[in-house]
Amino acid sequence: MKIVVTGGAGFIGSNFLTRLVPRYPEHSFVNLDKLTYAANLRSLASIAEAPNYQLARVDLADMAAVDALFAAQKPDLVVHFAAESHVDRSIVGPKDFIDANIVGTFNLLEACRKHWPRGQGLLHHVSTDEVYGSLGATGYFTEETRYDPSSPYSASKAASDHLVRAYHRTYGLATKITNCSNNYGPRQFPEKLIPLMILNALEGKPLPVYGAGLNVRDWLYVDDHCEAIWTVVEKGRVGETYNIGGRSERKNIDVVHAICSILAQETNQPVEKLTGLIKYVTDRPGHDLRYAIDATRLASECGWTPRETFETGLKKTVRWYLDNPQWIEDVRSGEYRKWIDRNYGERTGHP
Ligand code: NAD
Ligand code: TYD
Repeated sequence: MKIVVTGGAGFIGSNFLTRLVPRYPEHSFVNLDKLTYAANLRSLASIAEAPNYQLARVDLADMAAVDALFAAQKPDLVVHFAAESHVDRSIVGPKDFIDANIVGTFNLLEACRKHWPRGQGLLHHVSTDEVYGSLGATGYFTEETRYDPSSPYSASKAASDHLVRAYHRTYGLATKITNCSNNYGPRQFPEKLIPLMILNALEGKPLPVYGAGLNVRDWLYVDDHCEAIWTVVEKGRVGETYNIGGRSERKNIDVVHAICSILAQETNQPVEKLTGLIKYVTDRPGHDLRYAIDATRLASECGWTPRETFETGLKKTVRWYLDNPQWIEDVRSGEYRKWIDRNYGERTGHP
């Protein structure tokens, strides 16, 4: 089978490829990636020379390039990770999100429609629970929850989900969608909460907590997400949506404390030295209060449940960042520095 993985040089895509390429030598994998700031080829070092793996530098917003790749590669399966993925960046500059997430997904769908006669091919679209908007103190998102996105990022992902569903209903394209909660783990770009806090704490820099730190996210270890996606590819129903979650709801401030306590143990320093770095800063506009996922459909239809707890996953994650200083060096380019100055330079004081 020929499998095109879009966004395979990013956080989740690279974890997916480095698991699946060695596991399935009989399949060939093509990584379609624009290689934006969020990509890191060092994340793919273990498979770079594998005979069943190749990289194709393509921008999904370039329809002709996507079409040419389909004509050349003739994929049987596309697993679509590629996206602009960071909420704060989408608030500062939404246009890239429209281009990558909406136009990019549209171009991919058009290529699938053109190159796959009815009954051929499968597009697996990787999406987020943020399309559902915010929960109050109780309740869970199910696959029937109404879409109500808050940020330009989640609105662009919602639009892409709608397009994928429309191509299934209108053109009979074989599609599956998964909506997953917040991921964490190795190879995550340090603009997201968990790696940002790990790296700042290691350098003795402030740990910027938005608002009062009481927003709740449901955390899932990235390997569990990758296995869930593969499970849905293999066992999920065509045209269906599956929610993926970790049943690991945590307030942001508790996540930051958990990171401090693991780092203190791993680096032999008093935890107070790290928690003393916590700084409450101006809240994110439109900040969703709480996400929580009901993944019953995935569990009952496909038999998937997560393997890691938040505690075991977080420990592995901290260890990975401690063990991979060169990866960190690579991502800390001028582009990264510029973002940190822009996002945190403007956030001051308490909420
Ligand atoms: P990421 O930002 O780490 O990586 C995105 C990858 O997509 C990068 O390699 C980038 O170069 C590539 N890309 C961006 N625009 C592109 C374009 N126009 N053409 C081709 N490639 C392009 O993202 P991630 O955290 O790995 O997320 C992957 C997917 O999973 C996204 O669709 C995201 O919405 C979804 N998701 C993420 C999370 C999470 O917590 N990170 C949770 C649920 C769903
Ligand atoms: P993030 O990792 O950006 O993921 P998402 O916005 O997709 O959920 O943020 C996770 C939570 O952490 C979110 O509630 C915002 C908060 N947050 C901070 O408090 N400080 C930070 O510096 C960042 C990046 C996020």
